[in-house]
Amino acid sequence: MASGTWEEFFAAHLPPPDFEDNRSLLKEFCERHDQYGNRIALVTSGGTTVPLEHNTVRFVDNFSAGTRGSASAEYFLEHGYAVIFMHRQKSLEPFTRHFSGQKLLDMLDIQERGPNTTITVKPDSVDVLAPILLRYKAAHSAGAILHVSFTTVSEYFWLLRAACECLTNLGPRAVLYLAAAVSDFYIPKDRVPTHKMQSASGAPVIQLQLVPKMLAPLVNLWVPEAYVVSFKLETDENLLVPKARAALDKYKHKMVVANLLQTRHHRVILVTPDETQEILLTREEVHAGVDIEASIVLELVRLHAEHLAPCGAPPVAP
Ligand code: PMT
Repeated sequence: MASGTWEEFFAAHLPPPDFEDNRSLLKEFCERHDQYGNRIALVTSGGTTVPLEHNTVRFVDNFSAGTRGSASAEYFLEHGYAVIFMHRQKSLEPFTRHFSGQKLLDMLDIQERGPNTTITVKPDSVDVLAPILLRYKAAHSAGAILHVSFTTVSEYFWLLRAACECLTNLGPRAVLYLAAAVSDFYIPKDRVPTHKMQSASGAPVIQLQLVPKMLAPLVNLWVPEAYVVSFKLETDENLLVPKARAALDKYKHKMVVANLLQTRHHRVILVTPDETQEILLTREEVHAGVDIEASIVLELVRLHAEHLAPCGAPPVAP
């Protein structure tokens, strides 16, 4: 089935209630960093949902824990970029991603002495917590990271377009790193029931429609000078590189990071117009908890600097 246009998609979906607040935050953040000539990476992370009911009890979800985006955001900060971290609510976030589940509580000791109860970090956890806490504090006190969140695919697109509008002044200093897992299918608003679907009415027949690809207006209209990196997620190895290359040919952006669902944490393929480069972690590196995102971002930063060189930008952001 053919998708509608991106303009029709925006016309049919109202902006989310907190949209204007987020737009102001994005504007302030981009203007501030633009003033100093900084580079900004917009990192999208986590999966978007498609609600099956307006008062949503059920929804279709896209798979992503937010591992890729949250880790990458940390490495962009390390390389001197300011970061807009646009993420699915309740998915992994930079810095706190290291302490999911009970990890943080397991690092703490408590001495109950009535009103003088004290909580301390266990001595053997200080070495783990301290470097992460220091990086977290440094990023936040420098105002180097902004978090904005989405849940549904329409919230994602409203935020994405607003972020692009704010980033456009940065020209080639903006990197868009589109790691979020974005819905390809949705239910048009007028076919979404208001209330929870009732099982007594029998099995529902749900017809999904194609979501327009936002990469097209993004690359051509919203941020034509930015360094745009999209991701390609497949489950079939045979489709991976051909589809990544087809996306590059079609949208004419700078890079596709291709990954298979099954191996995404230790293998990716960076596809650019000129080359195809595999990044593969060894078994030992995986065991030692090395993030593949460190290598992805390192290579991207190198290519972005090359791209910026003719514009006279310094090799490393201030
Ligand atoms: O978070 P993790 O668990 O670590 O998982 C990371 C990841 C596997 C989700 C990530 O590495 C990844 O591959 N993200 C992209 C997933 C995706 O949406 O792939 P796609 O092949 O459906 O889309 C390709 C590109 O088109 C994406 O960059 C997307 O931003 C863009 N798109 C998608 C749908 C749409 N309607 N418009 C778009 O522009």
